[in-house]
Amino acid sequence: MAEPLVVIQNLSNAYRTRAYGAFGKETVKPVLDHITLEIGQGEIFGVVGESGCGKTSLGNSLLGLIEYEGTIIIDGLRQNPHGRLRRSKELSRKVQAVFQDPGSALNPAKPIGWLLEEPLKIHGIGTKQERLQKADAMLRLVGLDPGYKTRRIQELSGGQKQRVCIGCALMLEPKLLVADEAVSSLDVSVGAQILNLFLNLHQRLGLGMFFISHNLHVVYHICDRIAVMYQGQIVELGTAQAVYSQPAHPYTQALVEAASGQPPEDPRPEPPARGGCRFAGRCPRKSRCCTETEQELRNIAPPGEAPQEVRCGLFPA
Ligand SMILES: Nc1ncnc2c1ncn2[C@@H]1O[C@H](COP(=O)(O)OP(=O)(O)O)[C@@H](O)[C@H]1O
Ligand SMILES: [Mg+2]
Repeated sequence: MAEPLVVIQNLSNAYRTRAYGAFGKETVKPVLDHITLEIGQGEIFGVVGESGCGKTSLGNSLLGLIEYEGTIIIDGLRQNPHGRLRRSKELSRKVQAVFQDPGSALNPAKPIGWLLEEPLKIHGIGTKQERLQKADAMLRLVGLDPGYKTRRIQELSGGQKQRVCIGCALMLEPKLLVADEAVSSLDVSVGAQILNLFLNLHQRLGLGMFFISHNLHVVYHICDRIAVMYQGQIVELGTAQAVYSQPAHPYTQALVEAASGQPPEDPRPEPPARGGCRFAGRCPRKSRCCTETEQELRNIAPPGEAPQEVRCGLFPA
């Protein structure tokens, strides 16, 4: 098998915060808890889970924006875990991002042609002429007329803005695009067009994608494999087909049953049960062992089939 595009091993992180600024007591809030996964070359890998479960923290770790413990290797290069300032230029070219709010991601004072050219300038790529040609080609690739070069981002609709953001992200020809809630702020029909654009770019460029959304239907529509996250852990990981049509973890089942594709509201988030399953407090199928024993991810797929890993005591070793 080819070398994976991304290897994440035992990735954990925590945020340190102080109430009352520098004088308050420091509290450490653990978020990601030993995340391990691989993304294949050109694969669309999805992450789904409710707000606050750690999806953005995972994406930002991949982007080298925040500190973490553990290992991230992207296209054979090991990333420095100490955050943004230590990131190599080589790695930043390989991984680019598209975020939820396309309006605020780009400088409103500059014409779109300038915005597209900027990443190439920063990396010292091409002559002026070549950069402009590439900007034109990129606008066409993301479904916009090259005439948009002279317009400014605030003159565009939400969907068009996101197309420009995607174009800017692709100018450096990354191998991986991290899309964090990239269609969540768009109307359903516009969001569907952007999803189709992602699929189209994936096919044409062989682009790998790390696609984050709180909406399971969206993730299912676009991804090859899906990881379901709950309170900083992966609770289920498998092909999109398996996770969507034969969800094994009770939390994934709740997601699939929610017609909206969004996680059911957490009535009152309970602190993680000590040593037990973090979902136990909300789980309709919990038994006593669930609150006592911490579970590992275990493959429950029949031999010879693509792995479907589940962290749940209903599937004992
Ligand atoms: N910069 C930060 N400082 C402190 N806590 C943070 C910070 N960013 C995120 N968190 C907390 O970490 C948890 C995970 O957040 P996040 O990764 O944004 O989740 P998601 O994207 O799934 O909504 C949340 O409880 C959030 O409040
Ligand atoms: Mg988020």
